[in-house]
Amino acid sequence: MTGHYTLHPAPPTAAVEAALDRAVELARRGPRQDRNPRVGCVLLDPKGVTVGEGFHAGHGTPHAEAVALAAAGDSARGTTAVVTLEPCSHHGRTPPCADALVAAGITQVVYAGADPTHAGGGARVLREAGVDVRKHRHTGAEQVVADWARAATLGRPHVTWKLASTLDGRVAAADGTSRWITSPESRAEAHRVRTRVGAVVVGTGTALADDPSLTARDRAGRLLQEQPLRVVVGHRDLPAGSRLGETREGEMVPEEGPADGWSSGEGPRDDQVSSSREGPVLHLRTHDPAQVLAELRGRGVHSVLLEGGPTLAGAFWRAGLVDELLVHLAPALLGSGPGAVPDLGIGTLADAARLELVDVDRLGPDLQLRLRSVPGPATTRNGSAPAHSASSASTGTAAVHAASSEHAHTPSDQEVP
Ligand SMILES: NC(=O)c1ccc[n+]([C@@H]2O[C@H](COP(=O)([O-])OP(=O)(O)OC[C@H]3O[C@@H](n4cnc5c(N)ncnc54)[C@H](OP(=O)(O)O)[C@@H]3O)[C@@H](O)[C@H]2O)c1
Repeated sequence: MTGHYTLHPAPPTAAVEAALDRAVELARRGPRQDRNPRVGCVLLDPKGVTVGEGFHAGHGTPHAEAVALAAAGDSARGTTAVVTLEPCSHHGRTPPCADALVAAGITQVVYAGADPTHAGGGARVLREAGVDVRKHRHTGAEQVVADWARAATLGRPHVTWKLASTLDGRVAAADGTSRWITSPESRAEAHRVRTRVGAVVVGTGTALADDPSLTARDRAGRLLQEQPLRVVVGHRDLPAGSRLGETREGEMVPEEGPADGWSSGEGPRDDQVSSSREGPVLHLRTHDPAQVLAELRGRGVHSVLLEGGPTLAGAFWRAGLVDELLVHLAPALLGSGPGAVPDLGIGTLADAARLELVDVDRLGPDLQLRLRSVPGPATTRNGSAPAHSASSASTGTAAVHAASSEHAHTPSDQEVP
């Protein structure tokens, strides 16, 4: 479709498309892991000329729409706001963007993704105020909030359990040695995976046995650009001088308040943030996986790579808090040594936890398997939720679409072609 598509004087469709691309570019400047989503906004006059733009720079700073409105000043009146995410209608640290857009005299809003949180609903507020509201699907805009939307839908960070095992399911040898089960190719991929998550989590058992750094590094050992928050779970202290136990005086990070539109879970007592040479490490002295995730969510983490060991990963599995498995399978046999999973309380084959194989890749001599839990009768012995309980929202894009579908039948919610 070409030309104008509303009763309001509105910019040409091509200009709106270009503005959405630009808004995504702006959104990407926001922090990847934050309690708020990354959002970009461009204000277009009826001729398609940009009169203001902005992005959200993270929790506690003005929203993208507010930044764009401030940049445009009086020129905002009569313009179209092109936003990567539905404007909020929520009174948080900043006033609702929907109200600000109405007050500024915006006549049309085009947004790409619906907000699945209770902060959303701005589209309705805008329509009620007589603004022409359009939802326009845009892959880039969906991708930029995918992790955030998935966590918002789950109500916690998405969890991928990553393990490296032999063909017979051993994650270490009988003498405790576990370096290296898999090939350099697998290990390089494991480091790349770390760059894509908000936090890497291990139990104190692994921290004490292996003294891992949990950073993302290239093959030469250099730190990659994106680094996850490193998290150790368990009551024991880590020795000073160990890679995760090293603390510098005076580097405790204070707790923060709840995010806009988010409620923060009560954190485990006694948690501690220390800093090693390679960045912050969070030590959570708890055995409760849900508490770990609530704490991480409160810190703006959307995705977790659970790197074991078997005891901690088993606890997450039993609690139904594993969404995906990433297995690096080495063509090797050990015959003894710790297994990938502890006893899950499954006594008979009919109760086996079944998984769906999503992807298989070769990494040098190894196989990489990506799996999702399958809804079915397999629940755990302790009666907790099935491990697949959250798998339906296992992709961020799906979460955004699912959330968008709430609005799909609203008569006035027309798709921009
Ligand atoms: N191949 C692989 O992919 C891989 C990955 C990781 C580890 N590993 C190997 O696994 C071995 C370590 O295994 P692990 O099972 O001892 O390690 P782990 O799961 O990392 O740590 C277990 C410890 O975590 C604490 N913990 C936290 N939450 C818990 C809960 N819900 N229930 C019970 N304990 C909880 C406990 O210590 P506190 O007493 O301190 O509370 C517990 O002893 C090492 O040999 C390591 O090399 C292999």
